[in-house]
Amino acid sequence: MTRSEALDGDVRRVLVTGADGKIGRAVVDALLDDGIAVTALSLAFDRPSPADRVLTADAADPEAVSEALRDVDVVVHLAAIPHPTLAEPFTGFRSNVSATFNVLTRSARHGVRRVVLASSINAFGVPMNAAAGAPAYFPIDERIPTDISDWYSLSKQCDELSAAMITRSTGMATAAIRFPHTDSRDRLLATAQSVLDDPAASMREGWSYLDLRDAVDVVRRAVRTPFGGSHVLHVSAPDTLVSRDTQELLDEYAPAVPVNKAVTGRAPLIDSSVARELLGFTARYSIWAPDGPIGDAAQPARLTGTSAR
Ligand SMILES: NC(=O)c1ccc[n+]([C@@H]2O[C@H](COP(=O)([O-])OP(=O)(O)OC[C@H]3O[C@@H](n4cnc5c(N)ncnc54)[C@H](O)[C@@H]3O)[C@@H](O)[C@H]2O)c1
Repeated sequence: MTRSEALDGDVRRVLVTGADGKIGRAVVDALLDDGIAVTALSLAFDRPSPADRVLTADAADPEAVSEALRDVDVVVHLAAIPHPTLAEPFTGFRSNVSATFNVLTRSARHGVRRVVLASSINAFGVPMNAAAGAPAYFPIDERIPTDISDWYSLSKQCDELSAAMITRSTGMATAAIRFPHTDSRDRLLATAQSVLDDPAASMREGWSYLDLRDAVDVVRRAVRTPFGGSHVLHVSAPDTLVSRDTQELLDEYAPAVPVNKAVTGRAPLIDSSVARELLGFTARYSIWAPDGPIGDAAQPARLTGTSAR
């Protein structure tokens, strides 16, 4: 590591927006564990935040975000309405894209080194667009063609464009992480059970998921890793929500979709190579491996419980 990289890696304070949310709370805890001071911002806090600076505010409020950015080196922007059913289209779209645009532009003005923002697997639109049929190909990567039919997916696509714009215009680094369905292992197991009732419905997102611990890991790496430019990166668990060989799933539910890379065993249908190359991130938690993290080369155990087919 060069001297400038070492200095850049010395992150003292991080602003986390959406700090009261599922991912936000876990990220705040992890950063504090790393000895990094946290400024927590959220529309509301259901319970007290452990951060030493806490702002109850809208991330779309310019003054509030400017105040929140005091002494901040890196921003983790998670604040968003996370599903199209949770708001009217205009309200939801306006809230998400104006919050992201505000956080990005204010961060650049305050000399923040990089903004890590939550995008979504939905940014390419197909997962929430039943009429789209299927992704253009598998595994899904950052170049997959978009086909958007809902405001939430559109807001995430716009957020990615806003991030690229701010990097071009100011040089501030940005990384938009396309999270798939992300939750604790217990809740993901419940999701996996419901996916089994209708596996075809989740085909459009490649039956993907991410353990919350891996979500925290990728954010933590993006906070600590010096990088330049603007990036969009997919992340995924090391397997799928369905306990079957992936090629079998494709043969049954997506036989006409081109597969651009060999898919072996239970491999995921999300290409996480940008996250691996940029941040050294590889997901380590599988819902099918109850005994904790698995090594890079390990194959998750075949499910023997009720979800097995
Ligand atoms: N959890 C997932 O499965 C998943 C998948 C893909 C993407 N994401 C994205 O990750 C991020 C975090 O998701 P989550 O699951 O923790 O969601 P969450 O709903 O649990 O948390 C979001 C938090 O953001 C806050 N918030 C919303 N709009 C705000 C605003 N304008 N200003 C300030 N605070 C605001 C909410 O009050 C909430 O505390 C979101 O951007 C979401 O779209 C999540």
